[in-house]
Amino acid sequence: MRRAFALITGSLLFLCVVKSQAEEDQAYKQLMKDVGATFGSLGKDIQAKKSDSAAEDAQKLAGLFKQVEAFWAKSKTEDAIAFAQAGEKASSQAAESAKANNLDQASAAVNDIGKTCKGCHGAYKPKK
Ligand code: HEC
Repeated sequence: MRRAFALITGSLLFLCVVKSQAEEDQAYKQLMKDVGATFGSLGKDIQAKKSDSAAEDAQKLAGLFKQVEAFWAKSKTEDAIAFAQAGEKASSQAAESAKANNLDQASAAVNDIGKTCKGCHGAYKPKK
């Protein structure tokens, strides 16, 4: 009886973990979609020389990278955390430069952001 109880509790616990894992994955994919869309928009703003929108998008991207960092912090995945932090820092720099209407500098920061996408995807994004 005790054993059966333990088995049932164990299976229920297992199901809960699997389910919340799936939800986390879904939430993370959504976060990445936002990161992708915002990063794309930031690039276009800079090309169109819209410093105000560029500053806004870069600021938003910095906030998204903070969430990316929090996600990886849970599993203590050090390199991923470092990529997310580098992305956040480069996004803040892009925002500062865009606010100062220095779009060349903002564009250089956007290149730095791009390196963090590539670096982290190379290491952690599942290959299709
Ligand atoms: C700290 C790691 C990390 C960083 C930094 C990162 N990504 Fe990702 N990204 C991932 C992982 C892991 C996945 C795969 C998620 C999955 O399929 O479960 C992913 C998936 C994606 C996807 C596909 C989402 C989908 O529809 O499934 C897009 C788009 C994306 N990333 C864009 C970006 C862009 C643009 C940047 C940089 C501005 C970036 N990412 C930075 C880790 C990262």
